[in-house]
Amino acid sequence: MINVGIIGSGAMGSGIAQVAATAGHTVFLYDNNPVALERSQAKLRKIMNRLVEKERLTAEEAEAIQGRIQYVDSLYDFKSSGLIIEAIVEDLEVKRNVFEQLELIVPEDCILATNTSSLSIAAIAAVCKDPSRVIGIHFFNPAPLMKLVEIIPAVQTSGAVLKHSQELVQSWGKTTVVAKDTPGFIVNRVARPFYGEALRLLEEGFADVATIDWAMTEIGGFRMGPFTLMDYIGNDVNYKVTATVFGAFFYDPRYKPAFTQKRLAEAGYLGRKSGRGYYDYREGAQHPDPNKDKKLGEQIVWRIVVMLINEAADALYLNIASREDIDLAMTKGVNYPKGLLKWADEKGIHHCVETMDRLQHEYLEDRYRCSPLLRRMARDGERFYG
Ligand SMILES: NC(=O)c1ccc[n+]([C@@H]2O[C@H](COP(=O)([O-])OP(=O)(O)OC[C@H]3O[C@@H](n4cnc5c(N)ncnc54)[C@H](O)[C@@H]3O)[C@@H](O)[C@H]2O)c1
Repeated sequence: MINVGIIGSGAMGSGIAQVAATAGHTVFLYDNNPVALERSQAKLRKIMNRLVEKERLTAEEAEAIQGRIQYVDSLYDFKSSGLIIEAIVEDLEVKRNVFEQLELIVPEDCILATNTSSLSIAAIAAVCKDPSRVIGIHFFNPAPLMKLVEIIPAVQTSGAVLKHSQELVQSWGKTTVVAKDTPGFIVNRVARPFYGEALRLLEEGFADVATIDWAMTEIGGFRMGPFTLMDYIGNDVNYKVTATVFGAFFYDPRYKPAFTQKRLAEAGYLGRKSGRGYYDYREGAQHPDPNKDKKLGEQIVWRIVVMLINEAADALYLNIASREDIDLAMTKGVNYPKGLLKWADEKGIHHCVETMDRLQHEYLEDRYRCSPLLRRMARDGERFYG
């Protein structure tokens, strides 16, 4: 079994180390901040104790998992690794620097992976002498609990490295999907309208925060409403991702951020972590009641879902991933109640096209342009499945 090196012992690096060690690998976890390493070790101890209490692991297993992780203060400890996963700050120059150093240390056949959420894998690979061994392996937070992992080969990545990475991550009990090296990969691209269209409905006064969240959970079947979720993620973080995706798509209006979100982030109304976001989390604060009008709720759900379907169809149209992987990514990665392409079949492709065209006609905005794939399928009477 290969040794796994992980760089960055923050939220993601610690979680990935736990996953790899649980699968039986010896893990070397490096961070340039010794305090972060100590915190990571203490956090894992707590998690392991909890799993033993809940009888998910025996005390011996928990001990063995912890014993397989070595907390190291030098990249030179990676010299016997077969795979490195980098999970440091989301900064291209810092990451490129680390990859350049790494290549001087690790064996020639060691795979170099990045957990980046938004940066170009090709740009990271380009600093390496052998860019064919660089790949994106994108876990979701928290890594031990989230089943999905997106695997992103860059234009330089070899077929063997892609195959080996998929097999390895699958052997850790994860579901892998393969995505093209484009902004947001699958999940963070296709999910944009979940936030964006909810914000648009709010800004237009179509419905309030509580009503939109109620509709999406109670009628739509989503685990969390968009505003509850944005408050959970943090409005600063969610805004930054939205703005990054918008820029990375050369300012395609489909991904335009909302002023409502920008202002909340600027005001420090970050969500749960600051005590206030779309909702008030301070002690004694009451959450507003939704308007439980079923017809209004159905309109809200369909407007957001059709935008999500359109995004999923366009991702397929542009070969970002396969039909199955797009549906799998959204159900396993963000717990959507159904795959979006399957949902499109159920609602009828015609109905999706009609709704998109009605919206575009009403707003005259490119934001509502219908995917050419949906239009073509409606014309030819096709379905995504069967
Ligand atoms: N948090 C998420 O939900 C999430 C999900 C998927 C992917 N990601 C991606 O994973 C990466 C890490 O995110 P995170 O949330 O774990 O961040 P984090 O801030 O929790 O942890 C980053 C860690 O990297 C360390 N670090 C920074 N620069 C370093 C360097 N040059 N060398 C060694 N260590 C260094 C820091 O000390 C810190 O401990 C980012 O690329 C992020 O985009 C994050």
